[in-house]
Amino acid sequence: MLNSGCQELAETAAAAFREVFGAEPEGLWAAPGRVNLIGEHTDYNEGFVMPFALPFYAVAAVAKSETWEFHSTYGEGDTVRADALGTSAEDGVAGWAGYLAGTAWALNEAGYPVGPVRVAIHSDVPHGAGLSSSAALECAILIALADLHGHEIDRGEAARIAQKAENEYVGAPTGVLDQSASLLCTEGNVMFMDCRDLSREQVPFDLASEGLQMLVIDTNAPHRHADGEYASRRADCEEAARLLGVPFLRDAPKDAHLDDDRLNRRLRHIVTENERVLDTVKVLEGGSVAGIGDLLTASHASMRDDYEISCAELDSAVDAALGAGALGARMTGGGFGGSAIALVETAAASKVEAAVIEAAAAKGLPTPRVFVARAAAGAHRVA
Ligand code: GLA
Repeated sequence: MLNSGCQELAETAAAAFREVFGAEPEGLWAAPGRVNLIGEHTDYNEGFVMPFALPFYAVAAVAKSETWEFHSTYGEGDTVRADALGTSAEDGVAGWAGYLAGTAWALNEAGYPVGPVRVAIHSDVPHGAGLSSSAALECAILIALADLHGHEIDRGEAARIAQKAENEYVGAPTGVLDQSASLLCTEGNVMFMDCRDLSREQVPFDLASEGLQMLVIDTNAPHRHADGEYASRRADCEEAARLLGVPFLRDAPKDAHLDDDRLNRRLRHIVTENERVLDTVKVLEGGSVAGIGDLLTASHASMRDDYEISCAELDSAVDAALGAGALGARMTGGGFGGSAIALVETAAASKVEAAVIEAAAAKGLPTPRVFVARAAAGAHRVA
């Protein structure tokens, strides 16, 4: 079942395709953004994550062509043309279109040959909000190219291919969380995934039956050094694993300790965060969503104090939400800006929203945007 929003996006993408290319697209493919419920920075440590797809999609209207032509409806509504993909954003296609070109490149690299297409993209995944708008682009074009060229690709393998586009073509050293969320999440569920082998389980996430809502709070914080800090956290984890003599921090014993204080705190975040994911699964499978509140809040404290990836805007949102009665709250995604989530009783949602906005104003921070999340469908072809 599609949400009507997706259908509308698809119509706009198709109209843009007709206008720019003067022809009909061969099809329309949609891929969503995500929030991660819990399990942060665990993906590149081969640990556990728990994302769900948001009902925001990038829709690609696509048809085969002689050269690569990428058009998007946002920003200037620009069109990028390329005769060849190159091997990276530097010698190929840079900017937003690099996510599309990079995914085509990664498909070729993975042994799924794809030829040039024209694409018109229309997306309502918020940009710069830490909700994976770039993974949505990658995953929409990936399933489009696979369908148009007759490749049947397992969705787990597809997630790895999209991750390769991001890592090697675009040049961001991210894990597999965002792409697997976009490709593999299912409506009404939160996905529990082991990033070691991408084995996964869809866990029912029925907020309404408990009178609950999940709020997403986009802090509108400016991104500060997020890329460099992300890479340095990743390097810390690799160094910690090396010192412990384990392949990844996923393999570190629970009581592992490192003398270096900073590395020890990075280690502690990853070890305890993996534990919290497993506990969250248990609580949800035990039939309680309300029961995960404390785990969410503990996860935030660990990211703030041990992993040091929060910021004033995220802390303000989390503290204000908790102060106004949220059952649990945490930043979600990479950190240093972006969004937080708050689990609230439906009756308390507007009070929490007001408190979050007021707290930001009192501190002179940007005004956050708050919306209610629901677990939506993963990437699919739009009829
Ligand atoms: C970003 C990355 C993901 C993951 C998260 C943190 O979203 O793209 O791979 O590492 O940060 O959990």
